[in-house]
Amino acid sequence: MNPKQVFFSVLLFGAAGLLLFMYLQVWIEEQPTGRIERKREQKGTSVTSGRIQEHITNQNSEVHMPEDLKKKRGNLLNLEAPARVLRKSNHSQGEDGAPQSSTDNSKETHQVAKSQAFQKPVEMNWPLVTRPLNKSSVQGNNKWKKADETQEKRRSFLQEFCKKYSGVNDPKSSLFHIVSRIYVEDKHRTLYCEVPKAGCSNWKRVLMVLNGLASSTYNISHDTVHYGKHLKTLDSFDLKGIDMRLKAYTKVVFVRDPMERLVSAFRDKFEHPNSYYHPVFGKAIIKKYRPNAGVEALNNGSGVKFKEFVNYLLDPHRPVGMDIHWERVSKLCHPCLINYDFIGKFETLEEDANYFLQLIGAPKDLKFPNFKDRHSSDERTSAQVVRQYLKDLTRAERQRLYDFYHLDYLMFNYTTLHL
Ligand SMILES: *[C@@H]1O[C@H](CO)[C@@H](O)[C@H](O)[C@H]1NC(C)=O
Ligand SMILES: *[C@@H]1O[C@H](CO)[C@@H](O)[C@H](O)[C@H]1NC(C)=O
Ligand SMILES: *[C@@H]1O[C@H](CO)[C@@H](O)[C@H](O)[C@H]1NC(C)=O
Ligand SMILES: *[C@@H]1O[C@H](CO)[C@@H](O)[C@H](O)[C@H]1NC(C)=O
Ligand SMILES: *[C@@H]1O[C@H](CO)[C@@H](O)[C@H](O)[C@H]1NC(C)=O
Repeated sequence: MNPKQVFFSVLLFGAAGLLLFMYLQVWIEEQPTGRIERKREQKGTSVTSGRIQEHITNQNSEVHMPEDLKKKRGNLLNLEAPARVLRKSNHSQGEDGAPQSSTDNSKETHQVAKSQAFQKPVEMNWPLVTRPLNKSSVQGNNKWKKADETQEKRRSFLQEFCKKYSGVNDPKSSLFHIVSRIYVEDKHRTLYCEVPKAGCSNWKRVLMVLNGLASSTYNISHDTVHYGKHLKTLDSFDLKGIDMRLKAYTKVVFVRDPMERLVSAFRDKFEHPNSYYHPVFGKAIIKKYRPNAGVEALNNGSGVKFKEFVNYLLDPHRPVGMDIHWERVSKLCHPCLINYDFIGKFETLEEDANYFLQLIGAPKDLKFPNFKDRHSSDERTSAQVVRQYLKDLTRAERQRLYDFYHLDYLMFNYTTLHL
């Protein structure tokens, strides 16, 4: 080889390496937290069998067995025979609720979903069309006039935003990933996108009651809500089932002021003993962001400071992945693709939720519960509380935090009180 050839081969290798690197970056971005993904991969096959069993057990209750599931069950049964052995795993695995809640149902069917995604390219027309809300059940009821006006405002506000920033309409992930946080309630034809720290536990309780899985929201424990595996996520259905539900069901999301949500997540996960967030996130955060950390703190991962946590969140090279409790709503629920029919806010949770329940024709006596089931003696995370936490940050850090959540701010018309 002459020097020129050598030069060009080196250039070629370099370019190939760069492409590979970029591809991997994109791939890593897509993974919510490494641990969960790995667990999914390992558990893959056995978990799929568990799912089949769940479908079989559901056979008696028509409500939980939509048409397409019946078909799918047929296919799956041929695929995996020894399902019966793996009947429902013990629900009390993992004491905390959080990591499980981040994946629960979707984890089980991830493999199924993945293989389907490879078989057929997903042809959805994004963004989904928005429909007017069906208000026949609240017609002429003045009680809901204000809630209704607010709703129409929020809907058109979001639509305008999505039109202006059409870049956020580009689906970059697979359909199954996009719908993986959406819970399905077939009886009242409702799809609820779960946003942690914005009333999601109580929403899941309500969905369980609507589904007929519980008689009242008041005695469903936190663990049952998050590990119970009673509710299905939309990614557990096949393409036809997903498509049909996205087109015909009422789609709802509940959001919260991004800073309040962040501080609430921090308090919940780091200011109380926690057997997942301290060893997994706490240790890594203390190790990287606390100079001269003590041996004990490095070993137990407890006592993370809000500033350290924010350093982790804003670090382009985070030592541990993201987590649904502080992930942006724009990434969890894809509001510009899904075009939610109803946008509720944590700030007006009960009013919005009860109006929504009227709209979908829920039983009149079903009211949205207002209890706080974890750390119930703690003060709720209010604007006042948030201000105290943000005081520990520099102005530049606050600005970068805002930038991190800027889509959530813009999509849902939140104002930056704390900048
Ligand atoms: C699940 O585990 C708990 C504690 O480890 C135990 O008390 C309970 O009986 C188990 N339940 C089932 C269904 O195995
Ligand atoms: C609206 O809901 C009512 C029941 O609440 C139903 O009878 C009607 O068909 C629905 N209308 C549309 C357009 O879906
Ligand atoms: C957006 O927020 C501002 C300030 O809180 C408020 O005045 C305005 O009415 C809101 N717009 C919509 C469409 O909700
Ligand atoms: C809730 O409590 C009532 C009365 O205490 C009981 O009858 C019912 O079975 C309980 N429901 C659940 C889901 O535990
Ligand atoms: C963890 O280490 C810190 C720092 O030394 C100590 O104050 C704290 O009590 C420990 N926490 C636990 C749960 O062991």
